[in-house]
Amino acid sequence: MTGEQQENAVAVGSGRVNPARNGMAGGGRVPRIALRNIRKNFGSLQALRGVDLDIYPGECLGLVGDNAAGKSTLTKIISGTYIPDDGTIHLDGEPVRFSGPADARRRNIEMVFQDLSLCDHIDVAGNLFLGREVTRGPFLDRKTMLSEARKMLDALEIRIPRLTSKVAQLSGGQRQAIAIARAASFDPKVLIMDEPTSALAVAEVEAVLSLINRVKATGVSVILITHRLQDLFRVCDRIAVMYEGTKVAERSIAETDLEDLVKLIVGEKDER
Ligand SMILES: Nc1ncnc2c1ncn2[C@@H]1O[C@H](COP(=O)(O)OP(=O)(O)OP(=O)(O)O)[C@@H](O)[C@H]1O
Ligand SMILES: [Mg+2]
Repeated sequence: MTGEQQENAVAVGSGRVNPARNGMAGGGRVPRIALRNIRKNFGSLQALRGVDLDIYPGECLGLVGDNAAGKSTLTKIISGTYIPDDGTIHLDGEPVRFSGPADARRRNIEMVFQDLSLCDHIDVAGNLFLGREVTRGPFLDRKTMLSEARKMLDALEIRIPRLTSKVAQLSGGQRQAIAIARAASFDPKVLIMDEPTSALAVAEVEAVLSLINRVKATGVSVILITHRLQDLFRVCDRIAVMYEGTKVAERSIAETDLEDLVKLIVGEKDER
C-alpha cells in the first residue's frame, strides 16, 4: 500500500476511526492541505489576515462565514486562482506554491466555481470532456466520449437520461452534478465547492449532498462553502468559521449546532 492509500484507508475504511470525526482533527496524520498564516490584500482591503487551516484526506470541511468574510478568497488561494501575499501551503506535507489554477490542477486540486464554468451550448458528454476531447484522427470520437461519460456519471450515481442534451436545457441540480462529476473525474485529492446548493430546489439539494458524500467516501478532501447551514450537518466532518478575514473557530460536526454556528458567524466571541 502506498502512503496515500493508507491515509485513505484510515479515512474511509470500515470500522476504523476517522479522528477528524471525533473532534481530534487529524490525530497525528499529515494533512492533505495545511495552510499557515495566509494573507491576501486587495489594495488596502485585508481580505485574509493570517489564516491557518488543515484539511485531511477523506473529510469534508465546511467553510462558513458572513458575506465578504474571505471564504472564496481562501479557496481561490488553495486552487491557485490567487497567489497569497504571505503564508505557506503544504500539500501532503510538501511545501507548494501554485503559479496559477493549471498548476494547482496538476497537483490534483479541483474547484467547482459558483458559475460552474460549463458551456451551455455544448451537450453533457461534451462538457464532461471539455478541454480533453477524445479524438480519432481529425474527428471527435463521440462514441467513446458518450460511453465514457455514461461511466463517469454512473460511478457517482448521477442520473441524466440523455447525454446529448445541451447543458442549457438541464436543471440547476443536473448542471451542478455535471460540474462536480467533471471535477471528480480528474482524480482530485482536494475538491472545493463554492455554494453548490445555493440555487437548487429541495430534491436537487439532496442529490448534490449525496454526491458530495460519495466523492468524500473515495478519499477526496472536500471543502464546502455554503450559507445553507443545515447542509453542513449532512456532509461535513468539521466546520471552520471565518469572520472578517480571520478564522475565528473550528468545530467537529458533533460538537456544534445551528445556534452555535450562527453566533460564530455573526461575530459573537468563541468562549470555548
Ligand atoms: N478580486 C478582488 N478584488 C478586490 N477585492 C476583492 C476581490 N475578491 C474579493 N475581494 C474582497 O475580499 C473580501 C472577501 O471576499 P470573498 O469573496 O472572499 O468573501 P466570501 O466570504 O466568499 O463572501 P460571500 O459569502 O459573499 O461569497 C470582500 O471584501 C471582497 O470584496
Ligand atoms: Mg464567496
